Amino acid sequence: MRFENKTVIITGGDKGIGRAVVLAFAKEGANTVIGYNRDLDSAKKTGRMVENEGGNFEIFKVDVRIKEECEKLVETAVKRFGRLDIAVNNAGVSTMNWAVDLTEEEWDFNMDVNAKGVFFSCQSEVKQLIKQGNGGKIVNISSIAGKRQAMLLSHYAASKFAVLGFSKSLALEVASHGINVNCVCPGLVRTSMQEREIEWEAKLRGMSKEEVIDEYHNAVPLGRLEEPEDAAKLVLFLASEDAAYMTGQAVNVAGGLEMAV
Ligand SMILES: NC(=O)c1ccc[n+]([C@@H]2O[C@H](COP(=O)([O-])OP(=O)(O)OC[C@H]3O[C@@H](n4cnc5c(N)ncnc54)[C@H](O)[C@@H]3O)[C@@H](O)[C@H]2O)c1
Repeated sequence: MRFENKTVIITGGDKGIGRAVVLAFAKEGANTVIGYNRDLDSAKKTGRMVENEGGNFEIFKVDVRIKEECEKLVETAVKRFGRLDIAVNNAGVSTMNWAVDLTEEEWDFNMDVNAKGVFFSCQSEVKQLIKQGNGGKIVNISSIAGKRQAMLLSHYAASKFAVLGFSKSLALEVASHGINVNCVCPGLVRTSMQEREIEWEAKLRGMSKEEVIDEYHNAVPLGRLEEPEDAAKLVLFLASEDAAYMTGQAVNVAGGLEMAV
């Protein structure tokens, strides 16, 4: 098992991609700290799934927009498991709108959770890793929308481009401490975020939900939508010793979506 007794923080670990990441780490022997924001039931359910894998876990409520809460999350991990080894900053939100109609509130919401949340999370995690003095691994979840245009998602794309810019710069600054910082860029992943986006997109473009889903399918060269587990596999690779010589990278896992027009 690649992660025996390693302590891993996963923000947004209660559902979607985050839950798949938590379970994948638990299956490989890690102690997981599941950050959740609103849905305690979902966090508890993830915890039970970890238990079924024989894993240890801690659940912690965190709003990544609040610096002190990000610091507390790290403190909780260290208090419970003695140290921090890996952090996956996955918490994220999206809303959809035409850029021309976008409100300041929508812009701030996406930027605050997706960009500032990654900044606050990384800062707390890196401080702890530097204090421990044995390096560590950080994996930030960006998106294909962090590398190219995304209709109805200009504000979200801006926030995910920000994740890449911040992560690459941080990677450079902490490399001398043996800390690797990399990003994962998923495509069209079947989660509650995608369900909400299908509804919004159908409404904003005057289409049926089925038509939107068909467009998603047609956009993916590998011919199927992404499962949370597809993204989780890449997260674990980047957190593993197999990726020891990688830092400051943004790796796509999107079925080839980025190659499509
Ligand atoms: N679903 C996709 O198609 C897709 C594609 C590319 C990237 N992503 C990214 O993957 C990540 C996970 O998305 P998902 O699809 O699993 O979405 P999801 O909506 O199923 O889960 C989002 C998670 O983020 C947490 N969260 C939201 N606001 C928070 C806050 N203020 N503080 C702490 N946690 C908060 C939620 O509690 C939840 O656990 C996000 O960063 C998202 O942008 C998703």
